[in-house]
Amino acid sequence: MNIPFAESYKIKMVEPIRKSTKEERLQWIKDARYNLFNLKSDYVYIDLLTDSGTGAMSEQQWSALMLGDESYAGARSYYNMKNALKNILGFDYFLPTHQGRAAENVLFSVLVKEGNIVPGNSHFDTTKGHIEFRKAHAVDCTIDEAFDPQLEHPFKGNVDLNKLEKVLKENPKEQIPFIVLTITNNTAGGQPVSMENIRGVSALAKKYDVKLLFDSARFAENAYFIKIREEGYANKTIKEIVLEMFQHADLATMSSKKDAIVNMGGFVCFRDEELLKKASTFNIMFEGYITYGGMSGRDMNALAVGLDEGTEFDYLETRIKQVEYLGSKLAEYGVPFQRPAGGHAIFLDATKILPNVPKEEYIAQTLGVELYLEAGIRGVEIGTLLADRDPDTRENRYPKLELLRLAVPRRVYTNNHMDVVAAAAKNVYDRRNEITSGYKIITEAPIMRHFTVELDRVK
Ligand code: F0G
Repeated sequence: MNIPFAESYKIKMVEPIRKSTKEERLQWIKDARYNLFNLKSDYVYIDLLTDSGTGAMSEQQWSALMLGDESYAGARSYYNMKNALKNILGFDYFLPTHQGRAAENVLFSVLVKEGNIVPGNSHFDTTKGHIEFRKAHAVDCTIDEAFDPQLEHPFKGNVDLNKLEKVLKENPKEQIPFIVLTITNNTAGGQPVSMENIRGVSALAKKYDVKLLFDSARFAENAYFIKIREEGYANKTIKEIVLEMFQHADLATMSSKKDAIVNMGGFVCFRDEELLKKASTFNIMFEGYITYGGMSGRDMNALAVGLDEGTEFDYLETRIKQVEYLGSKLAEYGVPFQRPAGGHAIFLDATKILPNVPKEEYIAQTLGVELYLEAGIRGVEIGTLLADRDPDTRENRYPKLELLRLAVPRRVYTNNHMDVVAAAAKNVYDRRNEITSGYKIITEAPIMRHFTVELDRVK
């Protein structure tokens, strides 16, 4: 008999979670104005809202915390982080920030100006928010295959090089501060970008003399997929692949809450010392002094260890196989989702699961509420609420896909939890003909409304 796959760790500390009754959940979600962000975490049984900052740190990371140097300037922990970034990503210069969006804020404060164009592959919502806040425009150049959920494609996160070249050709280079390559492509379903595509984007960036920025939140998962799926990489280590990927980047922003497996942290990497100096002023204004930038010494230490562990094959294999396991259960039950399974999450195809809910009534959000009511599972809407309004017309932007993301925290849940999630999704799918209406907005913020929006039932 073949020996089955199992996790590359054992568990040393546990945190109890509690089931609730359907009656309790009906009341709680109503009190939360049908916004899953408004729920107390104690009201959630299995929390798949995000994989960001929700991972379990290792014994090595916890012990690194104890060695944190809390000096205001020049802390040892800063140098530990600097060494890790040099060794693993190959960058000489960096600024620590408290999380990924802070890294965007610091960098974009230097580079993004009103009227600018920023092409990329499905810019993440905070990235787009920071671009649009500066009255610049994000242009999505993701390949069309990404918008066909049933289509199996190994690198659905890729940039369509023709779309990108059109943007680069039609706009003066002074108007394009950089191209953003999001690895993995979160919004398109946690889908990877191939090394070939990275090389192609990099060649276009060079041809048109435009900088290339990696939004690196899940870079290690991306490297894992390159190793597994792309010809020529099977025998390379994850760390070798990561170094090769980052050779093509002029700049990188990072939310360390993902692939560096810490609860809080981020950074910006630079090759150009002049740009580092300009950004340092904004870092000092918004984040903190340049050798801590919103992070404690303890956190910088844990981050340095996390980057190292997060780029080890065994860890990544365990992680990604768990997401694949959830995908295989859903496939067995016929529940439609973005294929193939993503690195950090499964993205349920809400339009297919709830075919009777009108798009004006927020289909993916409706699915999110139903899954919560079914079994206390919290996902997150990646649909019309997230797509927000057009900044010029203020009309709702209807995205190509209405998805409910089920993001799996790193090293936190077992496959038994994944079984519960899959069964609950099946039950919602089985009663799809009874779910014919969704929600309407009561109040919303002018930008990034999904976090705080308040909703009510249409019927
Ligand atoms: N870029 C990507 C691709 C992200 O997924 C995120 C965060 C950020 C930037 C911003 O980083 O949260 O540290 O400020 N994504 C989380 C998520 C929130 O749930 O996918 P942050």
